[in-house]
Amino acid sequence: MAEAAVRIFDTTLRDGEQSPGVTLNLDEKVEIARQLQRLGVDILEAGFPVASPGESAAVEAIAAAVREPVICGLARTRRGDIDAAVKALRGAARARIHTFTSGSAVHLRHVLRLTEDEALERAVDAVRYARQFVSDVEFSVQDVPRSDPEFLVRLYGAAVQAGATTLNIPDTVGYSTPQEFADLIRFLRGRVAEAGVEVVFSVHTHDDLGLAVANALAGVEAGATQIECTVNGIGERAGNCALEEVVMALRTRKDRYGRTLGIRTEELYRTSQLVSKLTGMAVQPNKAVVGANAFAHESGIHQDGMLKERTTYEILRPQDVGVPETRLVLGKHSGRHALRERLEALGYHLEDADFHRAFERFKELADRKRGIADADLAAIVQAEVVAVAPEHCRLEYFQVTSGSSTVPTATVRVALADGDPAQESATGDGPVDACYRAIDRAVGQEFHLVDYTLRAVTDAKDALGEVTVRVRDGAGRTATALGASTDVIEASVRAYLAAVNKLVGLQGSGVTDQRTVAAGERQV
Ligand code: KIV
Ligand code: ZN
Repeated sequence: MAEAAVRIFDTTLRDGEQSPGVTLNLDEKVEIARQLQRLGVDILEAGFPVASPGESAAVEAIAAAVREPVICGLARTRRGDIDAAVKALRGAARARIHTFTSGSAVHLRHVLRLTEDEALERAVDAVRYARQFVSDVEFSVQDVPRSDPEFLVRLYGAAVQAGATTLNIPDTVGYSTPQEFADLIRFLRGRVAEAGVEVVFSVHTHDDLGLAVANALAGVEAGATQIECTVNGIGERAGNCALEEVVMALRTRKDRYGRTLGIRTEELYRTSQLVSKLTGMAVQPNKAVVGANAFAHESGIHQDGMLKERTTYEILRPQDVGVPETRLVLGKHSGRHALRERLEALGYHLEDADFHRAFERFKELADRKRGIADADLAAIVQAEVVAVAPEHCRLEYFQVTSGSSTVPTATVRVALADGDPAQESATGDGPVDACYRAIDRAVGQEFHLVDYTLRAVTDAKDALGEVTVRVRDGAGRTATALGASTDVIEASVRAYLAAVNKLVGLQGSGVTDQRTVAAGERQV
């Protein structure tokens, strides 16, 4: 008998993007979607089109650019939401509409303000309506573990009769335990099957009690054949089931689960890094599968065991998830061809203009740093080439004085979009603060620094510093951006200017506070 497959439904760009403080622009979403396609996800939930024009445009762009996975759009049980999803998905090679309601008394009373019967009636109407446009309709009920099981049977049963092809079982608030969740899936499968219709059962788990992956795996043991998850487990509050963890658990313990997957696991690390960089959400060092320490062995006993036989202390191999070896590959004599080849090997397939920019930065870096490691290349390409907003202001130079007995002072000169240079000086609490104040003056707007992180890209003394900033403008829009340099002040300046460029771009497009619009509309 053929082994049963489990389908991976990635919701990084929908549920994951609802992580506090995360806002991705259209280019960044498309970039992540392309990488998810390389990873081999089966279904890609691209967004919630009715939430805002920007969200709808992103779903449309992803549907046009990414042709292998099924592209899914979220919709409440409202015809207007479904119309918005249909419109955004019309260019997709294969489209799915995912409509959802709520099941628990607390949600029905306070979120939807509907009775059980009203919620059921709307759900049936939404599924039927969606089926007029697509043959692939997923139906979800929020907060399943805290819902009345008999109501769930009525609701899911009615959705199947109305044409739902996938029934998703969300543990919206991460309340369930593995045994309980498995029992729930078995119960619902059994009772819905009584209606004599075949549907896919899916699990969607949140991590409030740290059980999202365990609950999803328990769901698979109980017969679910679709898992909803996000890269690095990002998402609301404590996040969602982590894609890389659930995938490697199914693969490593195939002896127990006996399921096949379409995921190219060697792309996991790159996907994790990309999502981390573009969202500005760092991966904790001890994170399973993709964390910096996931393959590091510190204790003498472990190291000794590893030297004798790797499997003594390692159940996953770094190469299985695509963790690159740290290698010094290029230097200042390396040419375009060598850089192009190395970038291709790292998975960066750049257009000529982007490659030119990468080469310029590489040369600048090579003048300052002896050997350039893969991680350095990835950092500069990610920070300054991939998914970068058009430049409304470009750094020409900066100068800083600081020290223990002097007031930090910075002078920054930028070229503005109209070609005019603007130069300003400012003092600040520290050199970075002084630079940021000088940039605000040069650009003629005050921005607010919401978050700032600095990390060394490699562990050498001359390591590249990578700065991630989250910046807010006067209208409440936020943007996250990266900068990389051997000089951490320069990396800070580059990151800030990249964020300012994104914000100025949003201002020009007339988008107001993206998160407020999305949050108000979403109610998810
Ligand atoms: O957590 C949840 O219930 C959701 C649904 C919209 C599937 O994200
Ligand atoms: Zn969710």
